[in-house]
Amino acid sequence: MLVLGLETSCDETGVALYDSEQGLLADALFSQIDLHRVYGGVVPELASRDHVKRMLPLIRQVLEEAGREAGQIDAVAYTAGPGLVGALLVGASCAQALALAWGVPAVGVHHMEGHLLAPMLEAQPPQFPFVALLVSGGHTQVVRVDGIGRYELLGESVDDAAGEAFDKTAKLMGLRYPGGPEIARLAEQGTPGRFVFPRPMTDRPGLDFSFSGLKTFTLNTWQQCRSAGDESEQTRCDIALAFQQAVVETLTIKCRRALRQTGLTSLVIAGGVSANQSLRQALERMLGEFNGQVFYARPRFCTDNGAMIAYAGCQRLLAGQHDGPAITVQPRWSMDTLPAI
Ligand code: KG4
Ligand code: ZN
Repeated sequence: MLVLGLETSCDETGVALYDSEQGLLADALFSQIDLHRVYGGVVPELASRDHVKRMLPLIRQVLEEAGREAGQIDAVAYTAGPGLVGALLVGASCAQALALAWGVPAVGVHHMEGHLLAPMLEAQPPQFPFVALLVSGGHTQVVRVDGIGRYELLGESVDDAAGEAFDKTAKLMGLRYPGGPEIARLAEQGTPGRFVFPRPMTDRPGLDFSFSGLKTFTLNTWQQCRSAGDESEQTRCDIALAFQQAVVETLTIKCRRALRQTGLTSLVIAGGVSANQSLRQALERMLGEFNGQVFYARPRFCTDNGAMIAYAGCQRLLAGQHDGPAITVQPRWSMDTLPAI
């Protein structure tokens, strides 16, 4: 089955062609980061308009790269939520229009299920069951995964998502959007131990997270340095390292707990923050305690992309699921409402 996947939930237009027999044939992405950077974050209306502009050229590009014709496509998968409503509607309208024109089914995919399944595109995919740490700009969740659509939420953030904490912290230190990669880059030059930030909610039982206090802690530290006349690049790097270490260690502590609680030894990390090298290393070290393994996607499939949507959509289509012709999206959508396949 040849599936065209469309991702438009936020500020990346992602398109891919996935074949159930041959795997991923082609994928293309247009990132709107430069468009939104001057505003310090995503402007929803600009995002929607840009998705309209990019979608068809990207579809033509993946067809050409894969050496396939539109008439060979068996189904269209698109991100139906969660995300920005206008941006989602661009992908949904486009998918439904193409499906109607080509006489094939369309299937709406849950964006976080897409992220969760992205490591399945790698050479050594994880086997069910596993614990998944989903860390994106909008979500931080620990989930027990027994199969596609068989998700048990074990814990989540009570305020900011991990990626959001990176982005907001970067912004208050005057760094560029998106903040995750910027903080990671500065942290490489940071002096270990100069600042030590708290590990929120690790001193009590449970698997929930809270990152907004860490952001305030960072702001206070940065302001204290500035009022003492220290706005040096080195200080920025030292703060970035302390912040990143606090997030990484907090996530690691909670993942260790989730593995102990479930008795599982495989951990999948997915979503934009799973591209973070320091997080990957810390989790790999921790999984050593369990003789277990960490699975993640290649960096460009950690952040938003069309390949994960084409893959997830294909699995649901193979199980006989697809949508009617209505154009509907779900800006807020809990993953545990998805049907099992
Ligand atoms: O999954 P994603 O592309 O979009 C959402 O579904 O939200 O995640 C984007 C988030 C942003 O907050 C970005 O700052 C963060 O992922 N991110 C990173 C890194 N690369 C992207 N955070 C930490 N380290 C990175 N290397
Ligand atoms: Zn995402």
